[in-house]
Amino acid sequence: MTINLTAFSDRTAMVEAVSDRIHHALKSALNERTSALMALSGGSTPMPIYSRLAGMDLDWSRVIGLPSDERWVPTDHQASNYREILERFSGSDIRLESLVPAKADGQADPQHAIQVLAGLPATFDMVLLGMGGDGHFASLFPGSAALAAGLDTASHAQALAVVPDPLPPEAPYERVTLSLPRLLATRQLMLVITGQAKHEVLSQAARPDADPEQLPVAALLRAAGGRLITYWSP
Ligand code: 6PG
Repeated sequence: MTINLTAFSDRTAMVEAVSDRIHHALKSALNERTSALMALSGGSTPMPIYSRLAGMDLDWSRVIGLPSDERWVPTDHQASNYREILERFSGSDIRLESLVPAKADGQADPQHAIQVLAGLPATFDMVLLGMGGDGHFASLFPGSAALAAGLDTASHAQALAVVPDPLPPEAPYERVTLSLPRLLATRQLMLVITGQAKHEVLSQAARPDADPEQLPVAALLRAAGGRLITYWSP
């Protein structure tokens, strides 16, 4: 499978190109509809993109952001994707929704996310994803019991609870994630990764014999084909 990949010489150039492209997509969406909807990955890679976007001229009050996946922690917790993304967008009027309740505790539960999704447009204007070195995207982690359900493109489940196994040491929390079919319901789909190791993981995932149970991003590549635009920098 061919990867639709644009490579940049450095991260700054990539951040500029990706944020320009997202800005353009959101602007077009707002010209055609009353609101624009975007799924936003957590993780370190997209954060400078959000900071740059927040300073760009747009009617942010009509833009709805939704994390692609969240750790099952209260939304003011230091490990909350919602909190980190909101901080990056501070200064803009974006309406950021969360997949988890403000005071999330106990076991991860997708019910809040399902209710939030029911009140949002069925199609994203933009989905921005990152990828872990283990080939996970959103919170669709290899080895988790919910993985097959989350990757099932025939499923109507839009969000699900995931318990990564093992829990990632840098963020050892249960998760709620959008499913692959929900992420594919988008006008534009982007994957942003950095470093040689992730480039190699993606190349492995593009092989015809790649197993999505081992490398979940293989399922994304297969299902999205050329629609998935990947941006890479060292
Ligand atoms: C999370 C993220 C996760 C992230 C990847 C890549 O909650 O951890 O949503 O899916 O996108 O792990 O993270 P980095 O960009 O930090 O490598």
